[in-house]
Amino acid sequence: MISSPESAGGNMQDAAVRVGDPMAEKSRPLMMSGIQPTGALMIGNYVGALKHWVELQATHESFFLLADLHAITVPQDPTDLQRRSLEFVALFLACGVDAERGTIFLQSHVPAHTQLLWVLNCVVPMGELQRMTQFKDKVGRNAANIHVGLFDYPVLMAADILLYGADLVPVGDDQKQHMEFTRHVARKFNGLYGEVFKIPEAYTPRTGTRLMGLQTPSVKMSKSDRNADNYVALLDPSEVVSRKIKTAVTDSGSEIRCDAAKPGISNLITLYATVSGEDVEAIHNRYIGKGYAEFKKNLAELIIDFLGPIQKRYSSIAADPVMLVEVLQRGARNARERSEDTLSRVYRAVGFIPDEGDHRRHSGKRWLSNERQAYIPVPVTPRALHQRRSIMETKETKDVTAAAAAETDAEVECMTDCCGCCCCDTEEECSMEE
Ligand code: TRP
Repeated sequence: MISSPESAGGNMQDAAVRVGDPMAEKSRPLMMSGIQPTGALMIGNYVGALKHWVELQATHESFFLLADLHAITVPQDPTDLQRRSLEFVALFLACGVDAERGTIFLQSHVPAHTQLLWVLNCVVPMGELQRMTQFKDKVGRNAANIHVGLFDYPVLMAADILLYGADLVPVGDDQKQHMEFTRHVARKFNGLYGEVFKIPEAYTPRTGTRLMGLQTPSVKMSKSDRNADNYVALLDPSEVVSRKIKTAVTDSGSEIRCDAAKPGISNLITLYATVSGEDVEAIHNRYIGKGYAEFKKNLAELIIDFLGPIQKRYSSIAADPVMLVEVLQRGARNARERSEDTLSRVYRAVGFIPDEGDHRRHSGKRWLSNERQAYIPVPVTPRALHQRRSIMETKETKDVTAAAAAETDAEVECMTDCCGCCCCDTEEECSMEE
């Protein structure tokens, strides 16, 4: 059987490193991953994502993102989006994701995602986004309804990942290009502004990541497929699972054997292998001389047995919406704290003036003794801005004392030869300002 969520949960309880020990948390590598709360969470998501999340949370500090901002890049029914967001949290928990140990949160609860998105937008050339396979596919399918958000999708995903300084990002094959893009954006930003971002690695385990549609085995199994018969949802009742497997397309012939020319039966064998944990050869041998009907019946039973405990846990978790909301609130608090730290480093790197929150975050650590002055936004006139720019150019200042001294010098200079400055058109205008 697929390692059951329960056993993974058990290991987690025993693990030596516990939440609340910040030093221990810091010493663990960090994994972050995300999923859009759209469609129906299905067996392909379990095998391709949730299973790995549960395994990795034992060894990694973990951030699990519900990408609701990404979800609206295609139109969503608002009530449906809300309902699914909570349903997905409940299913994460039912599958063994541990909200005490890791951070489960909604993207829309953490403003730093869209704030970093903007900064990254300003270093990403349009051409790179136009070349993204997923974007081209979606344009191809629905050219009339393409929004800027869809175009910008990979940049938001890069922001999601880079904000948390992720070491490892478990993703399906279809997200590999977005991961490469993320690494590229991080390197580019670091090259322009200094080493702010960690370069994350994609984690794409080979087995079981590619389940195909039950009715259309040429296309990847997808939770957003319009035809629900193409996937087995984690919440499908037993009769539905049996029907979906029974009616899954197979190919001509009767042999239970993987074969590139027979994508239907090959896909069902992959599904069987992932749910049972058996290797494909063993399955071939077991079904020599047997027919599709028996194979399908056994496969349906295996899936039903696997889904049973998840569905049972889901029912009790979903019956407690207050607990679900608390999980999301706690997750949002953690995620905000972590992401704001990165965002403030980004803001300072690009030259934004730190605000009071920044001051508090960094006081005592990275700021100099006159840090209080540093954050108080001194009223800056356009003229002073001009002077500041020349200061920046000569790199005269890193700390405030030096900046203030330089400003005074620059002012004298400006008085004598004003109209080369950026803020006034004529000498007359400039002296009026004085
Ligand atoms: N784009 C991912 C998908 O559709 C979801 C996602 C959004 C994600 N942000 C992420 C995955 C960050 C990993 C990390 O599968």
